[in-house]
Formats: sequence, structure tokens, C-alpha cells
Amino acid sequence: MPNVSRVKMALMVLFSLSLTLVLGVLLPDSLNLVARLCGFTETTVTHSIVLVYFLFVLICVAMPNLPRGSVKVEGKAVFITGCDSGFGFALAMHLHALGFTVFAGCLQKVKEGTGVRKLESMKSDRMKVVQMNVCSEEEVAETVKCVRKHLQETETSLWALVNNAGVSTFGEVEFTSLETYKQVADVNLWGTIRVTKAFLPLIRRAKGRVVNIASMFGRMSNSSRSPYCVSKYGVEAFSDCLRYEMHRWGVKVSIIEPGNFIAATGILTRDIVMETADKLWKEAPQIVQEDYGRAHFDRHVSVLKSYCNSGLRDVAIVIKDITDAVMSCYPYTRYNPMDAYWWIRLLIMTHLPAAIADRLYIY
Ligand SMILES: NC(=O)c1ccc[n+]([C@@H]2O[C@H](COP(=O)([O-])OP(=O)(O)OC[C@H]3O[C@@H](n4cnc5c(N)ncnc54)[C@H](OP(=O)(O)O)[C@@H]3O)[C@@H](O)[C@H]2O)c1
Ligand SMILES: *[C@@H]1O[C@H](CO)[C@@H](O)[C@H](O)[C@H]1NC(C)=O
Repeated sequence: MPNVSRVKMALMVLFSLSLTLVLGVLLPDSLNLVARLCGFTETTVTHSIVLVYFLFVLICVAMPNLPRGSVKVEGKAVFITGCDSGFGFALAMHLHALGFTVFAGCLQKVKEGTGVRKLESMKSDRMKVVQMNVCSEEEVAETVKCVRKHLQETETSLWALVNNAGVSTFGEVEFTSLETYKQVADVNLWGTIRVTKAFLPLIRRAKGRVVNIASMFGRMSNSSRSPYCVSKYGVEAFSDCLRYEMHRWGVKVSIIEPGNFIAATGILTRDIVMETADKLWKEAPQIVQEDYGRAHFDRHVSVLKSYCNSGLRDVAIVIKDITDAVMSCYPYTRYNPMDAYWWIRLLIMTHLPAAIADRLYIY
């Protein structure tokens, strides 16, 4: 019995040879034959191949921008988690302005943060600020009860759930405690799953939408961000499984993968970096401190501090994509609001062999 790698190689070679034959000889010859039978010259064939290819490219470029129609807003409510700041806050304001009833889940309603105060000061019947820590089983259950009661009273349906609440951290693997991995996943991953499961019966009956905010770091990784990447890869997997299962119920599931908007939101501030840096060094095992050295660590922290000021400052493209996922008659599965640099990098990291992609961007 030849081993698997030989079989694999033989199959690959066979496949490449047949493809070469089909594309290089069979296809042009048969097209030429058809052309001759119809009384055309051979150049017509070349021209039509170019034309078909041109149309294909044109459609691929133009299609995403063609209008796809929007659902009616009347009688529809949305629930958004993590509305105290950042994308969540901006989205709550935007969807409210479009006419939705918005349940804005906030981590700190009781503490009356700036986001909470601004949302509450709108004094609108359609803006409901609710206390909800996505990590708390009780708070989530209580919130579902409140939402259900309100929907019944106003004959509104829960059209969309946007899982936006999230936290971030940094630190190389050897400096990061298992506790940190668990804390980040508790919000980003288990929080998303907990809230989705709690609201799904309402969403399913409305044949509505689930929109999960993952990240470009849910598709490719970044050194020093392993707890975050792990949790966001999890969100991607969960969303894919949910999409397959919800298809038969008419519920559409979309994933938003924003690029770098660190400077625009509260996800990774200089304060968080300084606090985390202190904790990382103090809690690192002695052998790690000795081997990595304080100089390496400090250099590393200053690079991370510089990230806090990086990225796009306007969240408008993220809000536009989330709104499309909520409202479009044909929402996409994945949205990539990001600048061209990260978009190209994401394509390369996810499509080229790691040996090449790593050389281009990592080492
Ligand atoms: N900014 C980026 O560059 C970027 C890029 C890709 C993806 N994302 C994702 O986008 C989402 C929104 O983040 P953002 O950038 O807008 O950051 P943000 O301004 O920090 O917003 C996240 C919100 O979630 C809240 N939150 C944290 N823990 C929570 C919990 N346990 N329960 C409920 N709410 C909680 C935070 O409340 P407090 O303010 O009270 O802590 C905050 O208001 C996150 O999932 C993030 O991972 C962000
Ligand atoms: C990690 O992300 C930062 C920006 O957020 C980027 O500048 C850096 O090149 C990335 N590093 C790796 C190894 O991907």
C-alpha cells in the first residue's frame, strides 16, 4: 500500500495535467469547431472569451453595490449589546434614527456612563436602555422577560439581535494567565452564545436576523492578541454553525469583521495598556521574566501603546455594514469594513499558503 502523501502527489499531478489539457487544447479546439460550423472566424472565439471574462469581472465588481432592497422598519425592534460606547452606541443612535425600536443593552446602566446618559436623555419611546451584562445568566434572562413583555404590549416583533459587546487585551502567550483567556472569552464568545440562545426563540418567530460583531482577527491572527483572536475565531465558528441551522427557519445570520478602529472606540485605550502591562510583568513566572527580559517587554509595550492611536477614526463604514445586515432583503454572510491595507492583508493571510503569507507580513 503506497503511503498517503504519494497518492496525494500523484492525484495532484494528474489533476494539473488534465486541467492543462482541457483549458489549453480541448476547450479552444471545440470552441473553434463550433465557430467554424456557425460560419465565424477563429478570432471571434478569442474575442468572446475576453468578453465573457470582462462581463464576469464587471458583474463581480458591480454586484455588491447593486441595490438589494430593504425591509420595512415599522413594527420592528432590535436588541444591541454593549451600547455604552463605540460601535454599539453609534449603532443604537443610527437604528433609532431610522425608525426602529431599539433595546440598548448596557453594561453600566446603574453607573450612568456617558453613553447611557446620552441614550436616556433622548426621552424616546423607541429607545429603551436596559441593564445587561452579557456574562450574567440572571441579567440576560431578566432582560429577555422585559423585552418579551414590551413587545407584546406594543405588538412589535424582535427583528434583529446585534451581539456587539466585547473586550480586548494583549500580552504574549507566556505572559498571559489562563484566567485572562477565560475572562475575554466570557464576554466575546460565551456572551455572544448566551445572549443568542436567550433571544433566538423571539428572533426565529419573526424570521429575523442575528448579526455578530467578530473582527478581522476572527479570520487571521495577531501576535500578542491571542486571547482576543481565540474568542473571535470562536464567534466566527458559532455564527457559521448557526447560519446553517437557521436557514430552514428563514433567519439570516451575518458576521461583521471590522478592521482597525482602535482610535475610534474604547476597545484598547492607553490606560488599559498601562494597567495590563503592569499586571503582565508582575504575574509572569520568574523564568519568563528572566528569558524575555525587561528591555524586550518594555519595547513591546511601547509598540502596543502606539496601536492605541492607530486605525480609522470614523466608525461610519462599520455602522453602514451592520445596518445593511439588519435591513437588506439579501444581507451578506460576511462584511469587512476596513481600509484597503487590511483588506488586502486579510485576503493574502486567508488565501495564500501560510509559508508565504507569514514571510510577507509576520517575520
Ligand atoms: N474597535 C476596533 O478596532 C474593533 C475592531 C474589530 C472588532 N471590534 C469589536 O467591536 C465590538 C464593539 O467594540 P468597540 O470597538 O465599540 O469597543 P468599546 O467602545 O469598548 O465597546 C464595547 C462595549 O461593550 C461593553 N461591554 C464590555 N463588557 C461587557 C459585558 N460583559 N456585558 C455587556 N457589555 C459589555 C463595553 O462597556 P464599557 O464601556 O462599560 O466597558 C463597551 O461599551 C467588540 O465586539 C469588539 O471586539 C472592534
Ligand atoms: C498586529 O496588529 C497590528 C495592528 O493592530 C499590526 O500593526 C501588526 O503588524 C500586527 N502583527 C502581526 C504579527 O500580525
